[in-house]
Amino acid sequence: MIRIDILTVVPGLLEGPLGYSIPKRAQDKGAADIHIHNLHEYGKGRYRQTDDYAFGGAAGMVLMIEPVFACLQKLQSERAYDAVIYLSPDGKRLTQPCVNRLSLLTNIIILCGHYKGIDHRIREQLITQEISIGDYVLSGGEPAAVVLVDAIVRLLPGVISDETSALTDSFQDGLLAPPVYTRPEEFNGWRVPEVLLSGNHQKIADWQEQQALQRTKTLRPDLLANDNDDDIQPSR
Ligand code: ADE
Repeated sequence: MIRIDILTVVPGLLEGPLGYSIPKRAQDKGAADIHIHNLHEYGKGRYRQTDDYAFGGAAGMVLMIEPVFACLQKLQSERAYDAVIYLSPDGKRLTQPCVNRLSLLTNIIILCGHYKGIDHRIREQLITQEISIGDYVLSGGEPAAVVLVDAIVRLLPGVISDETSALTDSFQDGLLAPPVYTRPEEFNGWRVPEVLLSGNHQKIADWQEQQALQRTKTLRPDLLANDNDDDIQPSR
């Protein structure tokens, strides 16, 4: 069982996506315990303020440290956390090995940024690792949190019905997945590769391996270069 606490100023962006499909199944099966915390509940003053102007005159609002600190303090007084993750385009790029490692943790916190950014003291003092889901900028960390949580919880035992299917995903062996087909054997004159209909398991496995390698060489040669640095910073 992994417990995931997500801190956000826009809970609606998470409640919807995490209430369906695999994230929902993971929670229903007791494999994951996901809690979404609205930072406005920890906001300052009568208006529950969570953002303020940037010092120095930079454009855009900045997520304040107080609401984040108050929420973290409450959670961390209740249990110990293995990681406090901040999602940001300047974090370490998320890869399957990172996801595999995170899926083995017990309690994690994910902070979603918003506005122009977050008070840098949060990143310096309160965050143990920063993760980016790719080299593009989202309006906030919430879509990235959905990506991260989905990638983690689908690996947990009992969440995906076919136990082996998470292991045969693209990237789990450093290669893209081979193509898959289903009935009918022929549609519009387009046939399923004969080998898959042969019933010869060894030949099928060989074909799948060769396809995986070929597709990786063609589509993602960078994956074969073997100089990918997958390690995210260890938690403090
Ligand atoms: N927040 C905004 N853009 C992001 C990205 N690319 N990855 C993670 N968090 C983000």
